[in-house]
Amino acid sequence: IDELLSEGVAGKRVFVRADLNVPLDGTTITDDGRIRAVLPTVKALAEAGARVVVASHLGRPKGAPDPAFSLAPAAARLGELLGADVAFATDTVGDSAQAVVAGLADGRVAVVENLRFNAGETSKDDAERGAFADRLAALADVYVGDGFGAVHRKHASVFDLPARLPHYAGYLIAGEVGVLKKLTEDVRRPYVVALGGAKVSDKLAVIDQLLGKADRLLIGGGMAYTFLKAKGYEVGISLLQEDQIPAVTEYIERAEKSGVELVLPVDVLVSTEFPDLKTKAPADFENVDADKIPADMEGLDIGPKSRELFASKITDAETVFWNGPMGVFEHPDYAGGTTALAQALLDSKGFTVVGGGDSAAAVRILGFDESKFGHISTGGGASLEYLEGKTLPGLAALED
Ligand code: 3PG
Repeated sequence: IDELLSEGVAGKRVFVRADLNVPLDGTTITDDGRIRAVLPTVKALAEAGARVVVASHLGRPKGAPDPAFSLAPAAARLGELLGADVAFATDTVGDSAQAVVAGLADGRVAVVENLRFNAGETSKDDAERGAFADRLAALADVYVGDGFGAVHRKHASVFDLPARLPHYAGYLIAGEVGVLKKLTEDVRRPYVVALGGAKVSDKLAVIDQLLGKADRLLIGGGMAYTFLKAKGYEVGISLLQEDQIPAVTEYIERAEKSGVELVLPVDVLVSTEFPDLKTKAPADFENVDADKIPADMEGLDIGPKSRELFASKITDAETVFWNGPMGVFEHPDYAGGTTALAQALLDSKGFTVVGGGDSAAAVRILGFDESKFGHISTGGGASLEYLEGKTLPGLAALED
């Protein structure tokens, strides 16, 4: 983007593909981290006199307008953070978008409605995606990719549009890639990776990669119960992906052979019922050892012994990457594991990276000072796929 700025952008229509996919409670944004993350790029372009057209997806609407997924709240928040009026188009490439963009003065910013209200955005059909990219291209003279959270998606605005316009990487993408490169190319050891979150199937490919790279792998959150089951423990009614047990068993064996320390919870908080996340009414739970989960109970957080164990594996790390909450952190009774893990990262002297989406939001929602971490990525799936060593469509499209 510095190259673009030095060439001069005054009067040019610059399309910024951002990731404004923020968590919403109705129309209230519960974590605006992703909007703040794209501010440096939007500000720099506006200050240089560009007419800035910001576009993003939000949630997973089904290729047609759906008010529940409107970007209007994100556009309003962007305006507040910029301290400037931000125009909002009620469609993405239609009459409203065309009029809003045509009316943009130099140095002003507009947001167009959710890209995924258009079937062409996420289509698997190259021609359909291309046709939508053509319509997006008509809105701008230059493309700036800065939606790091979406670079792993082969979508029209991420992959096809940059091929149609002069294209540049924004500050956020450049910063994210710079950090993640350190983890893949020349990592300082001990390198500890903590993974959590609900589904082990989302993490299989990254675990596969990390078994050859990380020194220690800590597994918590919902995905831990498939590991515990694979070790022969009963997990009651905890989240379990039976079909993943063979893969997980193989990983446990490979970790032993390759000398990677695979650390599982030794105790968990269990309950007969999932907590009420709306009322946050006090939960009725017990703390049991990981091999003693009662048949009618489910694990909802790692327990105090596991928190201590995980922290002890992080203290001397030179590099830590963490992705995925350790428990149902949205409820105060089950936030302890995730809080302890975030604290362990802060207490470590090493370089700490919080990977994406849920864990980044958790860190902020739990009240941690994000500037104390080495890096908080805005991309969940994107940072994991980067660590998997995959070619990410949105980065490849900017590289040529
Ligand atoms: C994310 O939240 O990880 C990104 O915004 C991508 O969203 P998606 O998984 O719906 O493509």
